[in-house]
Amino acid sequence: MKRVVFCLFFFLLLFPPKSHSETGTFRIITPVDKTYTQGGQTISVVSKVVKNTFGSLQIYVDGRVQKNLTDLNDKEYVCAVVKVHPGINKIMVSGIASDGTASSSQVRVFIISPISAQYGSPPDGYARYLFHSSSSTCFTCHQMEPPASDSYPLKHSDSSCYVCHKHITDHKYVHGPTAAWACLMCHDPKANPKYATSSPPEKMCEQCHVDQINQWEKLKHQHGPFALGMCTTCHSPHGSDWPFWTRKFPTDLCLSCHVGQTGDHIITFFNGDPHPIRGKPDPRHPGRELSCASCHSPHASNYPFQLFADYRDLRHFCMGCHFKSGGTF
Ligand code: HEC
Ligand code: HEC
Ligand code: HEC
Ligand code: HEC
Ligand code: HEC
Ligand code: HEC
Ligand code: HEC
Ligand code: HEC
Repeated sequence: MKRVVFCLFFFLLLFPPKSHSETGTFRIITPVDKTYTQGGQTISVVSKVVKNTFGSLQIYVDGRVQKNLTDLNDKEYVCAVVKVHPGINKIMVSGIASDGTASSSQVRVFIISPISAQYGSPPDGYARYLFHSSSSTCFTCHQMEPPASDSYPLKHSDSSCYVCHKHITDHKYVHGPTAAWACLMCHDPKANPKYATSSPPEKMCEQCHVDQINQWEKLKHQHGPFALGMCTTCHSPHGSDWPFWTRKFPTDLCLSCHVGQTGDHIITFFNGDPHPIRGKPDPRHPGRELSCASCHSPHASNYPFQLFADYRDLRHFCMGCHFKSGGTF
């Protein structure tokens, strides 16, 4: 009898029964479920892992794998960055522990697009996600208070923001202070909430573009959103795929508010076609594409409808372009 008990004891030592505590589990701690953020093309996904026996973890956004994280060796926090889009993003982390048990954790984040009617405001039940005002777990490994040298970092990676926000400059056109990682020029660590920027945005832009703004403000006809100081509705403060870091190609930008406007309002040709509003070279601005902004200033001008000349003097107005392109229609 003793022998049997002894063998059983040994057997259990070698092959312990599966208990819950042996199975690795994890949970997404950043971002928080059912929250929304203003703008942003990427988001950090940090998972806290208990008993990390995972060979790899996959991060899915809307059902598609974006990241496959390997080399997890016992990590307690697994950090990554994924791409997000305006609207609801379903972010899921999933993995299989060494004992074959599958786990997953999911959160939903809504990304606001300042220039989209569809995604302009968050759905019911979504709370504002303000990371820097709430997080407390990251400082054990990351620098969370910017050092003085962050004001003018000598190179990108010197900025304490770089580790987590390195993708903010992944654009064809990047705004000067962002390209220089002088983030603190606009984001004040002492503001409440932390890193909040001035409002209206014009106040922030004025720090460096005061001459330009003063010049526009002297003109007779000012465009609605410009007069309200809403610079960042049209311009990303960081960068975009269009010159002057506009949030969309100018014509699309204008059409997101002036829905349905076509070239018909300029002139309809005999064959019924409207005047072009894109897809041709802009005769007044060599190197740029024709857009609504070829005729209308997005900011201000001395002529009605912020046009570059008085449209009632047709010859002068139309010839502003057609003379330069050879004087023919
Ligand atoms: C010219 C001013 C300006 C500069 C410079 C700037 N930001 Fe911003 N940033 C803003 C404003 C304004 C917002 C508010 C959201 C918006 O309008 O896109 C913002 C939003 C953000 C956000 C949240 C949403 C998003 O777009 O991801 C992050 C993160 C951010 N900034 C990080 C940075 C970092 C890191 C730097 C330096 C590399 C930086 N910013 C430089 C003005 C600026
Ligand atoms: C146990 C230590 C630890 C903790 C806690 C931790 N991180 Fe990390 N994190 C790291 C390490 C190590 C790296 C890789 C360092 C590097 O790339 O310079 C990293 C990298 C990152 C990256 C860059 C990932 C990439 O793919 O570029 C982000 C974003 C990040 N961490 C965010 C966070 C956030 C947010 C928190 C708090 C919720 C956090 N981390 C907590 C250790 C940690
Ligand atoms: C440990 C990683 C980490 C570091 C370091 C970090 N951030 Fe963030 N930051 C985040 C995360 C995570 C968010 C939430 C949005 C996201 O995931 O991109 C965020 C969001 C923001 C926002 C939006 C407002 C908010 O609080 O959610 C701003 C602005 C911002 N960061 C600026 C900065 C600036 C400026 C620096 C450097 C001085 C910096 N961050 C350093 C991780 C970090
Ligand atoms: C810290 C100073 C600083 C602040 C604040 C700032 N800018 Fe700039 N901006 C610059 C510099 C420097 C340049 C020129 C370098 C370049 O083209 O990026 C520039 C260039 C620009 C240009 C291109 C101008 C041209 O003729 O090529 C636009 C558009 C612009 N900024 C918009 C903005 C908006 C909108 C804001 C407010 C959200 C803003 N800036 C805030 C420093 C700043
Ligand atoms: C309605 C959208 C809109 C608003 C609001 C807006 N901009 Fe612009 N901005 C544009 C577009 C589009 C261009 C490209 C100009 C072009 O193609 O002629 C531009 C160009 C610029 C330029 C560079 C070219 C130039 O004309 O000198 C600067 C600087 C600038 N904007 C700053 C600002 C500032 C500062 C504000 C806020 C006070 C602001 N913008 C508000 C759409 C806008
Ligand atoms: C954020 C929304 C928004 C965007 C983007 C926008 N506008 Fe406007 N626009 C307005 C508002 C608001 C008014 C003032 C109300 C009105 O008169 O319709 C206005 C007025 C105008 C007017 C004068 C209309 C009139 O009857 O007096 C013109 C012309 C115009 N916008 C052209 C443009 C052009 C060109 C663009 C792109 C460069 C543009 N808008 C982008 C919101 C916008
Ligand atoms: C080739 C020059 C030209 C282009 C390009 C152009 N417009 Fe106009 N726009 C005019 C003229 C001229 C007027 C005044 C006469 C009129 O109302 O037809 C005007 C008037 C307007 C008005 C006020 C009157 C109305 O019809 O509501 C708005 C708003 C407007 N344009 C928006 C836009 C938008 C948005 C675009 C781009 C999709 C655009 N324009 C492209 C020349 C232009
Ligand atoms: C901002 C510059 C600009 C202004 C102002 C402008 N146009 Fe045009 N227009 C163009 C461009 C660019 C084309 C396309 C030319 C091409 O296809 O290469 C065009 C095409 C045309 C065409 C078709 C024939 C052709 O040359 O292809 C006619 C007709 C025309 N415009 C009439 C007018 C009239 C009338 C006005 C004044 C109400 C006017 N345009 C104002 C830029 C302008």
